[in-house]
Amino acid sequence: MSTTVQATLTRTDLTPKIGSELKADVDALVRGEFSSEIRALLEQRGVVVFRQLNLTDEQQIAFTRTLGPLVEADVFKISMDPKVNPVAEYTKGAFYWHIDGTMSDVPIFASIMSGRRLAPVGGQTEFSNTYAAWDDLPESEQKALEKLKVVHMFEVSQRYVNPEPSYKDLQAWQTFQPNTLPLVWTHRSGRKSLVLGSTASHVEGMDLREGWALLTRLRAYATQPQFVYRHEWTLGDLVIWDNTGTMHRAMPYALDSGRLMHRTTIQGDEPFA
Ligand code: OGA
Ligand code: MN
Repeated sequence: MSTTVQATLTRTDLTPKIGSELKADVDALVRGEFSSEIRALLEQRGVVVFRQLNLTDEQQIAFTRTLGPLVEADVFKISMDPKVNPVAEYTKGAFYWHIDGTMSDVPIFASIMSGRRLAPVGGQTEFSNTYAAWDDLPESEQKALEKLKVVHMFEVSQRYVNPEPSYKDLQAWQTFQPNTLPLVWTHRSGRKSLVLGSTASHVEGMDLREGWALLTRLRAYATQPQFVYRHEWTLGDLVIWDNTGTMHRAMPYALDSGRLMHRTTIQGDEPFA
């Protein structure tokens, strides 16, 4: 006689509006046994956390593949050391609230990041739920926002890090074309989320200062504690975020701290709309 051991997925919500911690057997995860549950949960909860899972790169890539097609075949090393990460200079933009991929019309669906070396101080990652922020706006304000469009520019996000660029730096930033996106994203599911973040330059057709005031007020609103989950990293943690319904940022850490995250990314299949 044999018994079948059913692999189980255990869920604990981390805050009321964003973030769930899951526990599951590593082999079952890598085989993709919970992939549909995890995809659904990502959309519902914004962020999914596995504590101290300690996946190898091969396991992380295999696990990512069970959730959707990868953007890059290998893990990407998030580090502020240019010897480890050739685009470390651009990576500094991660210290400010952003959505990955606002310079393209179809942003990535989700990212999976594992903690490989931690900063002794700082270096937490914060996530804000932009679906929940939209849902909690008064109806009169939702109506006023729904038709607005925002122009996003890579150079605007880089100015946070390098406010007095050389002309050469600026020219490199400007190789990215501006991208006009809706302020309110109506997803295929019918749910709506706010599209904000450090690449947002101005509101199309609105007085510049009025538009900046609006973008600043909405960013401050959407990143209030009730919409935010802050991940305090332990070595080996694996964190997944739905990049289409959240913003995120890294909390400050020393550039020479050695902090290292390995990231895999799932292709998007839904344009901003
Ligand atoms: C990213 C990112 C934040 C962090 O990988 O896209 O913004 O905490 N990372 O390193
Ligand atoms: Mn990012």
